[in-house]
Parts: sequence; structure tokens; C-alpha cells
Amino acid sequence: MKILVVGGGGREHAIIWKLKQSRNHDIYCAPGNGGISELAACVPIKPTDIEAVAAYAKRERFDLVIVAPDDPLYMGLVDKLQSAGIRAFGPTAQAARIEGSKVYAKYLMKKYGIPTAEYEVFDDFAKAAAYVKGCPMPVVVKADGLALGKGVVICETVDSALSALKEIMLDKMFGEAGNRVVIEEYLEGPEVSVLAFCDGKTILPMQSAQDHKRAYDGDKGPNTGGMGTFSPSLKYTDEVRNAAEETIIRRTVDALNAEGVLYKGVIFFGMMLTKDGPKLLEYNARFGDPEAQVVLPRLKNDLLEVVEAVLNGTLDRITLEWDDNVAVCVVMASGGYPGKYTKGVPISGLNNVREAVVFHAGTAVKDGAYVTDGGRVLGVTALGTDIQDARKKAYAGVNEIFFEGAHYRTDIGLK
Ligand code: AMP
Ligand code: GLY
Repeated sequence: MKILVVGGGGREHAIIWKLKQSRNHDIYCAPGNGGISELAACVPIKPTDIEAVAAYAKRERFDLVIVAPDDPLYMGLVDKLQSAGIRAFGPTAQAARIEGSKVYAKYLMKKYGIPTAEYEVFDDFAKAAAYVKGCPMPVVVKADGLALGKGVVICETVDSALSALKEIMLDKMFGEAGNRVVIEEYLEGPEVSVLAFCDGKTILPMQSAQDHKRAYDGDKGPNTGGMGTFSPSLKYTDEVRNAAEETIIRRTVDALNAEGVLYKGVIFFGMMLTKDGPKLLEYNARFGDPEAQVVLPRLKNDLLEVVEAVLNGTLDRITLEWDDNVAVCVVMASGGYPGKYTKGVPISGLNNVREAVVFHAGTAVKDGAYVTDGGRVLGVTALGTDIQDARKKAYAGVNEIFFEGAHYRTDIGLK
């Protein structure tokens, strides 16, 4: 089968690696990266140039296009492909609003009784400012639209909430995404990510994962796209899972149906396990990155069969099967990330990694050798009989790899 995967990070590398584990499909990737180019033909088209991606997919007669990142989904790439008669995996623009608009996501949660943080929505700075002055601290300020994962500010004081509101609503730090804000109650507890395949009627949750969003050990430093993950989360016990599946996961599909939205693709539930039970922080309309790098290696099914079942509406005939091993993914980032960093730094030692798979996030090939090409550079994933075993193997892999300025957390999986 001739497949195009849209995106170019570690998540896309994991998706392509997983597809190739089952069969030697003819895979292309737009734009891909250095590591992906070992498994797929990389084509230099930007995922956000949805016209160009759709035209290319049509011209090259792909049997299937998998759209992995948030922006092209929200911009309507799947809609465009579908109207060109191309099978595309991922939600339409309308369905992707569960991620693209936090105001819409909260509206769904409230209307359908999905447990979440209490909140208010504002489109007027003065009113928002007056409101936060009466809120207990900390309080959470969120830009409505997509903001590269940076549109959420946890504010310890009224002053910091006011400056977050000013940056988002007046200075338009995230552009139009800040026309509206959600101001919500701060929730406490461990966070867990649950991804699920959805064909519009049936929803099949995958095994849980835990992300590490802060840049440094001990959850210190600025937020990042994710510095490492492990799966499954021990905090996601059977009891918590039953509650989450009933009150959050199933209710979301029912809510979407009631709203007349047909959702086909992956839904990512970002949950906080509070003392009052699991509460939903947010939806993402796609696989997580680096969640995919620990969940997909544990999935025993042929990924393409599951994707086909989503497209055909036959997910009720699929049972997901899981490897009992634990997976750990350690992200190696460029020096300076998530702030400024340089690209083009040579990477060595990749061939010495023995007991881990290295998913490339931001790499390129230059003169036949790998160089860094992004903030998050590599995700080193290992499977083990328990978390210690998986950690040992993943970090043994990390220790073989060198690039100037590389930084990674040493505590992935310890919490
Ligand atoms: P989001 O993009 O909505 O997932 O927010 C990014 C991160 O901010 C989440 O992964 C949480 O760690 C944190 N966060 C978001 N909303 C809340 C909340 N209501 N209470 C506490 N932390 C939150
Ligand atoms: N790791 C979180 C995300 O993909 O948004």
C-alpha cells in the first residue's frame, strides 16, 4: 500500500516504524526528518501548506494519508483530501476543534457533564482582569486557540495572571488564538495521557502514558513539548480507568454524536487524577508526542488494520492487544531548548545503541551523516520487564549517543 504520513517529528517516526513492523509498505513522509528517511521517502512539503500536501497526494495517487500534527488537522487537510477522493486518517477541521478551540472543548465538557476544572470564558480584557482578581490562586489562564503548546499559564498570583492576560489578549502573543481566553480552576494530582482510536461510534482506548513536560529533572524549568514518557502509568489503576472510561471517554463520543460531529481518528485525553476522580484537562485531536513513542511499540496489532477499521467504521470488530512490557522514552534535546538553540550539530554513536529504538524528532542528514535539526532531537525508547529495566535500557542507549550541548532528563519514569 502507498501511504503518505504528514509530519516530521518523533511521533511520525514511531508511526512509520510501527507500520513497517507489520509490512513493508511503500511509505512517504512530508516533510519527515533524517531518521524517517531510512524508512520512508521524505518530500519537502510543509504540513501547514495543506493545498500543496493535498495536490501532491492526489498527483501521486496515495491509497492512504495519515495526518499526525495538530495544525494541518485544524486547518482542514483531512477535509481537503476527502473531497479529492483520498482516504485520510485524522479528524476533519470541525472535529479537530476539540483541540483547536479550548472554549469549544470546555463547552462540550460542561454541556455533557464530563468532569473538568471550573472555568469562565472571556473575550474582553477588562472583564477577564476583574474576574481573576476574585479567583483563588493559583489560577490557570489559557488562550483559546492553538499556541504551540505554550498558551497555558499557571499563575500563582493575581499579578502574574494579569500579565498573562495582557500578553495573550492585548499583546496578542499567540495572535488570533488569544482573542478569547479560558480562566480555570487549578487542579492537583498526577497527570495521565490516554489516547484512543475512534471511528465515530466505537472508541478503543490505548494503554495509558505519562509525559514529563518540564525541561529539567524534578519537574523544574520551563514547559516543553515533552521531555520523555513511559507507559503504562501505574496511577491509572483499573478503578481510575473504569471511572475515566465511563465519565470522560465514552461521554465524549456521545457528546460529539449529539452535536452532530463525526470524529474519526485518535483522541488524546489529557487527564488530571484528582482526589475527586479523574478530570479532563484537555483534548488533543491526534497522537501525542512523545506519547506515541511509548504506546505504539507496546501495541501488538497491525496499526494499519486499526487505521482501516477507523476509516471503515468497523472498530467494534477490533480488540487492541498489548505487550506487557513497560516502555520508557527519553528525549534528547538541543542545548538551550525550549529557548534558543543551534541546528546542524553532528550526532554520533547512534549505531552503538543496542537495546533501544531511537525515534528521530529533529534531525537531518548532511553529507551522509546525522545532524541536529530541531529542539527535541531524538527519543530513545526501550521496553523492559518493569520500569527499572526499561529505564536502564533507554539510558544505556542515551549514553551511547553524543551531540554537543545535548540535554535530557535523568528521571523519566521515576515518579
Ligand atoms: P493543556 O495544553 O491544556 O494540556 O495544558 C498544558 C499543561 O498545563 C497541562 O498538561 C497541565 O500540566 C497544565 N494544566 C492545564 N490546565 C490545568 C489545570 N486546570 N490545573 C492544573 N494544571 C493545568
Ligand atoms: N505530549 C503532549 C502532546 O503531544 O501534546
